[in-house]
Amino acid sequence: MALHCGKTCRQYLLHLAHDHVDFRLPEIKALLSLRGQQCVPSENFREMSPFWHLNGLSEDDVRSVMSRTVCAKSAFELWGHGNTAAELKSSLLGYPLKDMAPFLKEESTYKINVYTFNKTLLFKDRIEKIDALGYLPFQGKVNLKDPDHIFCLLEDYGLDPNDIPEEPFHIYFGRWIADGQRELIRSHSVKKRHFIGNTSMDAGLSFIMANHAKVKAHDLVYDPFVGTGSLLVACSHFGAYVCGTDIDYNTIHGVGKASRKNQKWRGPDENIRANLRQYDRECFFLDVMVSDASKPVWRKGALFDAIITDPPYGIRESTRKTGSHKEIINPPEELSGESHVPVSMAYHLSDIFADLLNFAAHHLVMGGRLVYWFPVYRPEYCEEMVPLHPCLSLISNCEQTLSSHTSRRLITMEKIKEPEESDVLSQLADPRFSPYQGHNSFREKYFSGLTKKNGKSNERTTTESDVS
Ligand SMILES: C[S@@+](CC[C@H](N)C(=O)[O-])C[C@H]1O[C@@H](n2cnc3c(N)ncnc32)[C@H](O)[C@@H]1O
Repeated sequence: MALHCGKTCRQYLLHLAHDHVDFRLPEIKALLSLRGQQCVPSENFREMSPFWHLNGLSEDDVRSVMSRTVCAKSAFELWGHGNTAAELKSSLLGYPLKDMAPFLKEESTYKINVYTFNKTLLFKDRIEKIDALGYLPFQGKVNLKDPDHIFCLLEDYGLDPNDIPEEPFHIYFGRWIADGQRELIRSHSVKKRHFIGNTSMDAGLSFIMANHAKVKAHDLVYDPFVGTGSLLVACSHFGAYVCGTDIDYNTIHGVGKASRKNQKWRGPDENIRANLRQYDRECFFLDVMVSDASKPVWRKGALFDAIITDPPYGIRESTRKTGSHKEIINPPEELSGESHVPVSMAYHLSDIFADLLNFAAHHLVMGGRLVYWFPVYRPEYCEEMVPLHPCLSLISNCEQTLSSHTSRRLITMEKIKEPEESDVLSQLADPRFSPYQGHNSFREKYFSGLTKKNGKSNERTTTESDVS
């Protein structure tokens, strides 16, 4: 037990999935802050470890996190831990009997699982480890199929698969409380999605984005580059009302060429509304419409609880915006005398992000969050490239590696003040508020490091849907 805030608090252990490692702490922090709680890691906290023990929380806090997280697999009430079996034993014997007793009663059933990270144990070794816990005063009967209480011995053999130690670095024992929502990754996989496109966002990352954005029931969430609506699907799962816009008429209306192999045209009802219907979330669908993010159509004022989006980077779709009278270009000689308004023109990445941040500053409610992806050419990346805004505070910046030389960063910002006229001046004067111009050439840089083989790049660490 840890002493915290002058009173004795239980400790909890989270067992985290070992993918999207960078996204885990911001997710857990966001979910705890939805309950007005902070993440209080124990001493020796290692963010990379698959096991985190946290202080200062209640079981309800932990259950609430587990009802949302896709980064954590399971949560336990931590009864003891140590670097060796002997240390674990003395830690467990120090755990108050009165706190153990309700779960060890004669009339209750139980089972003990053994989980090892970075090592596979033989069945007989697992049994030995369970037998070695004989000093715990279990009174009830073992029931492997449907026990009243589940306990787990968790062993950490480090992170290096090429250097697995004989003995674990650390051992934990605890009472299982709840599993996280990893199942959503399978149940909402885009492979089984009614309506998909080339850049549909992976289900796991969509849920992570919704969690980073602290999306909750009855919120109003907007995606200005909505595509096939994967982010709306995730947000509606948490009970938010969702809407979106996209410049592409075919995507919004669910017509035109299909993205699926062996299918030429999109079928009837292949649209975003049907995606929500597939998961029984149609009641949260407000609408989607064709609109250019560079020329937002919303009336002034704070409207959205969260803006979650995956802007185009120009890899799988062009970054275009509609032309306007402001952008009248020089007409060709034969048309001289006539003004020519371009139908569409390049939408530079730096402008996409500047527009997005300005839009969020104006249209988020106070405390509302903007969550978006920012493509990065890794050899040149530094933190200063991430665009800032005087009204938005940077909450987290997590990297997903795409290849040896490119990645994208999930940026989470929170609105901290209403925009004022002076903000426009400070944006012009302060270089931190001008997004990195070099990203305009992200497309060229993305392709520059790829070796081509049969017309296809052979250096990919991502899935097809990973790159926009
Ligand atoms: C990366 S995709 C979004 C994918 C989406 N998250 C999904 O899961 O399907 C980017 C989208 O931005 C749209 N887009 C490109 N330029 C735009 C603009 N100027 N205004 C609005 N949408 C635009 C594209 O049509 C594309 O659907």
